[in-house]
Amino acid sequence: MAQFTLPRNSKVREGKTWPAPDGAARPRQFRIYRWNPDDDGPPQVDTYMIDLDDCGPMVLDAVIKIKSEIDSTLTFRRSCREGVCGSCAMNIDGTNTLACTKYIDDVKGDVRVYPLPHMEVVKDLVPDLTEAYTQYRSIEPWLKSETQPPPGKERLQSPEERRKLDGLWECILCFCCTTSCPSYWWNGDRYLGPATLLQASRWIEDSRDEATGDRLDELEDPFRLYRCHTIMNCTKACPKGLNPAAAISGIKQAMVRRR
Ligand code: SF4
Ligand code: SF4
Ligand code: FES
Repeated sequence: MAQFTLPRNSKVREGKTWPAPDGAARPRQFRIYRWNPDDDGPPQVDTYMIDLDDCGPMVLDAVIKIKSEIDSTLTFRRSCREGVCGSCAMNIDGTNTLACTKYIDDVKGDVRVYPLPHMEVVKDLVPDLTEAYTQYRSIEPWLKSETQPPPGKERLQSPEERRKLDGLWECILCFCCTTSCPSYWWNGDRYLGPATLLQASRWIEDSRDEATGDRLDELEDPFRLYRCHTIMNCTKACPKGLNPAAAISGIKQAMVRRR
């Protein structure tokens, strides 16, 4: 059965400790959340000592090193190592971010690595994103148009129309924002959350899309859209520097404009 991530200040069981390698010149302690659905026990935090002189600069480098050289049972997602796939999103030093773009040297003290908060955990650092992707699918994130493109040509946009998509298309669906949103924590079953709403905005703002009215109709709901209370955690958390709170506000303004 899936395990809820415990809040950061909760007591989790102290797990195993792996000492620094002999002769480590720059030892650094990593405290990593572990939970295995095949074990009956509660989550635990394992401690790994890494020699930073023998490790890449990013938190993901250390996590990969731990899995490759110390403890192959550690489970996490990663793919691009360039901040573009969104799969290595974790809670590092109390903040949701991408492990591949987070410098170890930017963390003070022990490097605490947890899964994204308030999601069920599949194993260790892997959150269950099934519900988040179901919500994403619900906004029908593709171009909808009855009008055919000119024969043999693309659908053109003016530079101004194209600029409206800046700040939206760059989203990598890491869900750092959604899992930092208090409204999503409490109403994640009905509130779509900032990542999915930013994506909805990406299609609402697209001049080539002809389903704007239908898209707004789908969002006109006390929970799906209006659970956003402009707390702004989402914007603070986004590792790509995007502003989901502004995108949500834009959807609300579009609702008002069409009334
Ligand atoms: S601004 Fe809205 S979406 Fe962002 S954290 Fe606050 S409530 Fe959540
Ligand atoms: S808006 Fe930012 S934090 Fe949210 S899913 Fe997209 S890239 Fe990640
Ligand atoms: S591994 Fe792709 S964003 Fe980090």
